[in-house]
Amino acid sequence: MELSYWAQRHARDLLRPLGRRWRHARSVAEKARELGAELAPADADLLVAAAYLHDIGYAPELAVTGFHPLDGAWHLRSLGFERLAGLVAHHTGARYEARLRGLESALAEFDDEESLVSAALTYCDLVTGPSGERMIPAQRLGDVEVRYGEESPVTRGLLAAWPELMDAVERSEGLQQLAGQAVVQPR
Ligand SMILES: [Fe+2]
Repeated sequence: MELSYWAQRHARDLLRPLGRRWRHARSVAEKARELGAELAPADADLLVAAAYLHDIGYAPELAVTGFHPLDGAWHLRSLGFERLAGLVAHHTGARYEARLRGLESALAEFDDEESLVSAALTYCDLVTGPSGERMIPAQRLGDVEVRYGEESPVTRGLLAAWPELMDAVERSEGLQQLAGQAVVQPR
């Protein structure tokens, strides 16, 4: 069974009760599938799996610290999915918010692979709004500021991470362009 198939079902079980978090995850996965067309099949499968699972730490049954990248990563580690756990732990600049919450060393127990796959996961999250709508990254930041408030660690962490996040966006835009062209000009 493909990892992404299992991930879709597992994320659905955990996130569907939360409504729009599941719509967001599905839309991030849809974007990941698009970009994955330009990756090796194993990396594409992993990217889509991580996209489905990146926010499972919001599920109340997984809550330990209340910091969703870490809670989600611990859960995936407990199931034996170490690489997925690392991708989830470090998605979308989580390290910066972890620092503000005093959880940086706990997060550092997970590998940050800093690969095209991890950059693409962050990109897919940044172009997807809270209910699954498409956004550009700047709109996404604005939306987080409005929803959480300027003083929130979520907003402050995202702002601190922003230069790094823009690097991930830049790295992924090549994939996005290739994927876009592939739709117009099938190869
Ligand atoms: Fe997300």
